[in-house]
Amino acid sequence: MWATNLRIIGIVIGTLALYTLIANKIPQVQSEVPHALTLGANVTPEQLVTAGDQLYHGAGGCTACHGLGTRAPNLLTDEKGQGPIGARCGKREPGKDCKAYIHESLTNPRAFVVQGYEPIMPEMGRTLSPQQLWALVAFLESNGGTVDVSASDIPASTTPAGGSPPGGGGGPGIAGGSTDPMTMIRGAGCTACHKISGEGGAIGPDLTHVGSRLSANLIRESILQPDAKTAKGYEKFKGVMPKTFGHQFTAEQLEALVQFLAGHK
Ligand code: HEC
Ligand code: HEC
Repeated sequence: MWATNLRIIGIVIGTLALYTLIANKIPQVQSEVPHALTLGANVTPEQLVTAGDQLYHGAGGCTACHGLGTRAPNLLTDEKGQGPIGARCGKREPGKDCKAYIHESLTNPRAFVVQGYEPIMPEMGRTLSPQQLWALVAFLESNGGTVDVSASDIPASTTPAGGSPPGGGGGPGIAGGSTDPMTMIRGAGCTACHKISGEGGAIGPDLTHVGSRLSANLIRESILQPDAKTAKGYEKFKGVMPKTFGHQFTAEQLEALVQFLAGHK
């Protein structure tokens, strides 16, 4: 009896140990949500630049458009002979210094649209915290210019740093910032008008095989600027699709959605 009980306990402990071992071997999935910044009141310009660098190349989603050729201006390298962003930022708008211009580019991108580009840049103030925005400004200034962002630019009232930006509601973006495609599609109300895999309405084209008609670029454009091109047979419905998704999704959500739809052949 005792021997049997001990054997069972032994097996249980052994199994638990094995699973713990396996669990620790599985690589941790990186969180897609922008990392919280822990920038104290004494943050240095160097710390801001480092944090901005990480955001730019990571969760900020900037590289979905910038640095990939013609969709958006180069920021870290020369743009049409005007130098990298830190060198040209002070010359964009009369009376606006570099710091003010870059901050405006992030929070109100339509205030000044760089010539030759479409106004597709999302308003970053909706998805990033003030600290994160200022970290990006510092990082961009450091590319060809002088960093003049300091702790005093960062609103003191917004601790804890970096977590949820204004708006809250469980996180930035649609559906609490989820990057699960069907959660986003339902959360954004796409299925009110579109069918996908048998689910949804019939006001707009069925999206089940959209990847076989449209490239990822055209799908992105259809979402950001629905009126740029009208789907064949839907001319009467031009203007029906909301034009606000570019402000509502985070850049990361948008890319996840575009890739998901492009994969629906
Ligand atoms: C969906 C595409 C897209 C994403 C994502 C995006 N941008 Fe942009 N951005 C653009 C386009 C297009 C322009 C040029 C048109 C304009 O001025 O709005 C631009 C302009 C800018 C400018 C002004 C450039 C100049 O030469 O004056 C800055 C600065 C900038 N973006 C920073 C960022 C940063 C930082 C991020 C990430 C947090 C980001 N952008 C994410 C598309 C994008
Ligand atoms: C209120 C209705 C409505 C909503 C909501 C809506 N759309 Fe649309 N959508 C349309 C209509 C109508 C068209 C066709 C006319 C056009 O191209 O503008 C369209 C066109 C499209 C196209 C181009 C399809 C093709 O075959 O050319 C894509 C892609 C698309 N929508 C994706 C989305 C996504 C993703 C969402 C949710 C984020 C969404 N739509 C939300 C009505 C809607």
